Amino acid sequence: MTNSLIAKYNVAGPRYTSYPTVPFWNTDGFSLPDWRQRLTKTFVETNSATGISLYIHLPYCESLCTFCACHKRITKNHSVETPYIDSVLAEWALYCNYLPERPRIAELHLGGGTPSFFSPQELRRLLTGIFALADPTDAPDYSWEGHPNNTTAGHLRTLHDFGFRRVSFGVQDYDPVVQKAIHRHQPVANVRRVTEQARAIGYTSVSHDLVFGLPHQRVESIQDTIAQTLAFRPERIAFYSYAHVPWIKGNGQRGFVDADLPTATAKRELYERGREALEAGGYAEIGMDHFALLHDSLHRTMQTGTLHRNFMGYTTRATGMLLGLGASSIGDVGTAFMQNEKDISTYQKRVSAGELPIVKGHLHTPTDSRIQELILDILCRLRASWSVYDWTDSEWTTLAEKLDGFRADGLLDYTETGLRVRPAGRPFLRNIAMAFDRYLTNGQTSEKPLFSQTV
Ligand SMILES: C[S@@+](CC[C@H](N)C(=O)[O-])C[C@H]1O[C@@H](n2cnc3c(N)ncnc32)[C@H](O)[C@@H]1O
Ligand code: SF4
Repeated sequence: MTNSLIAKYNVAGPRYTSYPTVPFWNTDGFSLPDWRQRLTKTFVETNSATGISLYIHLPYCESLCTFCACHKRITKNHSVETPYIDSVLAEWALYCNYLPERPRIAELHLGGGTPSFFSPQELRRLLTGIFALADPTDAPDYSWEGHPNNTTAGHLRTLHDFGFRRVSFGVQDYDPVVQKAIHRHQPVANVRRVTEQARAIGYTSVSHDLVFGLPHQRVESIQDTIAQTLAFRPERIAFYSYAHVPWIKGNGQRGFVDADLPTATAKRELYERGREALEAGGYAEIGMDHFALLHDSLHRTMQTGTLHRNFMGYTTRATGMLLGLGASSIGDVGTAFMQNEKDISTYQKRVSAGELPIVKGHLHTPTDSRIQELILDILCRLRASWSVYDWTDSEWTTLAEKLDGFRADGLLDYTETGLRVRPAGRPFLRNIAMAFDRYLTNGQTSEKPLFSQTV
């Protein structure tokens, strides 16, 4: 890949786990009664057909990794566990009292923060409470995120008892110099222990999270991290592009200085060499950021064209509805998004007062839904199709100009009714999706940067 392409396409841009992206939600146009109406309509359609998806955010971590962009609270005080689980269960009860029938849960994900911060007993109490008011569907897909340093066989067994068969472990990088810079001591022995325990207990899909673009990372060090990862043969490997977003996370990312980070060209090199090593190891690239063994369901759904993407990232199911519980969680009812209070004590106070702790949301317009579909197609299927009637003449002229640019750079082919991404375009999926984003093209800007760089 040429340096000029990298320079041209290395702009600030969304990762499109939603469209419109959160900074462009029309929060003034959001109303709770309208949202409830859309929630009920989608729920009734989805619950009997596929069952719903549920995301539960467990925000605590014991130690701060200075690169982290997740919504988390650092504490070693484990007395926070019980009241937090109480709040999540109270929030769930509010939903279940409101919903017209007992939910069926097809997809369930515990994310963080660090779910394994919580004791197996508290996780058991959480899931007992969730399933007191809901049923699992047949062959559900339940997953969770564990930290290799505090995940125990007790955590793995407890969640396996509730039907969890997929677990992902944060690894990031094995180089001690990188680990020191990101303040994450991550011994390979811990990763080995939890990976082996998960398999012995009956998990069928283990995933390891790696990140490229971290401070002090070099091609040799990332190749070494990947070689160590390949030795475990995890079914999936997330290979995330480091999102440098210090303006969002305060000084949390200030454990290193900008000069310690690879340049855009060096970062792209880390990705290219990393991808080669992963592919040589038998993994296929899935959309953006993810690799999977060929027998894994993520790869199979990509091949059949049914891969889906939502706030949880890539998933194998499109259930039509994702409910989010816990501080900062985001929900998607197909025609509307909502987000909970990020501040944990405000979240808890609102739930105790018997209120849904929603802080903002967005009601989709018909155009939003259409563009959302196009962007999903680009990110999940590397192609998209549309009708000539989808655009006014001037909209089409503007879009075609952008697509001409991508075509001239060899990134895609397009006609008046669709596009197909070429292999050279894969690293630029975010850029291609941005061409369709009406909110970005409408020239809305903000004083603060809103997104990380696309390269
Ligand atoms: C919630 S953590 C995983 C569970 C557990 N907290 C851990 O760290 O092991 C989610 C993952 O997001 C990724 N991540 C966090 N901050 C990131 C950033 N700034 N850029 C890219 N990926 C990031 C990391 O790979 C991390 O493992
Ligand atoms: S990477 Fe994981 S453990 Fe580290 S701060 Fe982020 S959420 Fe917590």
